[in-house]
Amino acid sequence: MEINRRHFLCGALLTALGATSATVATAEGALANSGIKLLPNGSVEVTPSVIKALNKVGGVAVIGEVNGAPTALVRSGAKKYIAIDMRCTHADITVQTQASGFYCKPQAGGHGSAFTKTGAVSQGPADAPLKKLKVTAKGKKLIVS
Ligand code: FES
Repeated sequence: MEINRRHFLCGALLTALGATSATVATAEGALANSGIKLLPNGSVEVTPSVIKALNKVGGVAVIGEVNGAPTALVRSGAKKYIAIDMRCTHADITVQTQASGFYCKPQAGGHGSAFTKTGAVSQGPADAPLKKLKVTAKGKKLIVS
C-alpha cells in the first residue's frame, strides 16, 4: 500500500491523540471515534467529550488543519474552548505543544518563541500572539472555523 500525505497526516494525528489502530480513518475526512471530523468547507467538527486531553480545564488537543491552519483546541473553562492557529507569528513555523502552552522549537526550524495556552507571547522573538480561530458550539460538538 502506498502511503500518501493524507495517510501520513492521519497517522500522525492519531498518534498525537493516543489513538489505537481501531480508530483508523473510515471515511473521507472522518476519524472514527477520534472526536474530530474534517468538514467539506474546511472547518473541523470536534466532540470534546471523547478527547481525553480535553477532559480537564487547561487540556490541549491538536485537531489537525482548519482551513489550512494547523490548529490546537484548548479547554479554557468548564464549557469554554479556544482554538489556536499553531503557526508562529515570528516566521510561520508550526509550534509544538508543551505543558505551559506552545513552543517554537529551534530543532523544527523555529527560533525559541513560547506562548501561553491562550496564545500570548511569553518569550520572544515573536512579538504578536498566536491567532485564534472561531469556535461555535453546536450541541455537544464544536465547529472550529
Ligand atoms: S518562527 Fe517561531 S520563533 Fe521564529
